Amino acid sequence: MNYRDSLSRNISKMPESPTLSVNQKVSDLIKMGETVINLSIGDPDFDAFPHVKDAAIRAIREIPMRYTSSYGDFELRKAISIGFQRDNNLRYNPENQIVVAPGPKKSIYDCITALLNPGEGIIIPRPYWEAYFIHAKFCFAEPIFLDTNENLRLTPESLEDTIKSHSSVKVVVLNYPCNPTGVSYRKSELEKFAEIILKYDLILISDEVYDTYSYEFEHISIASIDNDIYSRTITINGASKRYGMTGWRVGWAAGPPEIMKMVANVQGNTSSCVNVAAQKAAEAAILGDQTPVMKITEEFKRRRNVVVDEISRIKGLRSIKPEGAFYIFPSVEEFIGKNNDGKPIMDDIEMSDYLLNEAKVATIPGSLIGRKNYIRFAYVRPVGTLIKAFEQIKSALGKLK
Ligand SMILES: Cc1ncc(COP(=O)(O)O)c(C=O)c1O
Repeated sequence: MNYRDSLSRNISKMPESPTLSVNQKVSDLIKMGETVINLSIGDPDFDAFPHVKDAAIRAIREIPMRYTSSYGDFELRKAISIGFQRDNNLRYNPENQIVVAPGPKKSIYDCITALLNPGEGIIIPRPYWEAYFIHAKFCFAEPIFLDTNENLRLTPESLEDTIKSHSSVKVVVLNYPCNPTGVSYRKSELEKFAEIILKYDLILISDEVYDTYSYEFEHISIASIDNDIYSRTITINGASKRYGMTGWRVGWAAGPPEIMKMVANVQGNTSSCVNVAAQKAAEAAILGDQTPVMKITEEFKRRRNVVVDEISRIKGLRSIKPEGAFYIFPSVEEFIGKNNDGKPIMDDIEMSDYLLNEAKVATIPGSLIGRKNYIRFAYVRPVGTLIKAFEQIKSALGKLK
């Protein structure tokens, strides 16, 4: 038998994660001796806090490394519950409303798989962080893309129109502050989204992994608005972005007990549980002093201001001012069709390659994350490096005629 023809047709159609594949390209270039400024992957450039590392080391020395509950270690769930109340004004019972997974990405996978039957619809605002639609495809659900407006915002009107025109819709994904746009939503906007979710009897997955990176107004968790939306929302968060712990792989989902029972079932049957030392480290991160988190927010706000400023000085690049997260997503439309020495740049994918080769700056092309002729920059580098990156970009773009 030629096994190549009999592998999963579903999986063979899945795109590779754009961030991970660009990151691989960059690592290869760096290995070949090139100096590249990597603004492609959303991996914050600060390390887990010392007391967090100590907690993991202590766990390795002192705690038997056995399986924990498929909901996660109970002490960590209690800490997550405390964190939700302290930071998001949300009450979740650690007994049956919180499920810990190996990273927020896996939490989202667990939720999508637990909620959707084949053919049922999940609304994904576009541009997006790509995993939502890939996870939907894993369970043969139907991703329904909803284009955000010219300011890259989701509007209640467009949400309602999309729901009305797709009878299969069961779940809506909301990610704010948003990867890749940095758009976030105030309470008045969230109330309107909540009203629509309730009106059409839907379930909301609210991905708030960037909640601490809010620069313009206080982050409000949509589930905290009232009991009605609380009872239809799964809130996603994790240690990755908040505590600089992307590689530790600890994420969590919280929501109504009957849904979380299903989520725990997927989690337990796919990953059993998260590494115990990482769970103990996440517990220490949540229960420890949060002042370093606030300092990190201040630093990223400073970086946001720098990149907004740098981009405003490059003629032809246009961007909204991100309200949160650590991405900026300018339009490069004005440069499409221009060329440097002959061959015109035909789209954002070629533009991203041009910036990598000519400016030595790695980025993510907008087409791969749902918006043509835009480019995503992750400002996860110190201010000096960001200024250098945008000088190099300005010079490379200046060569296009
Ligand atoms: C919006 C959003 N949600 C969830 C995640 C998943 O985080 P992790 O990859 O650490 O699981 C990411 C990662 O980039 C993200 O941007």
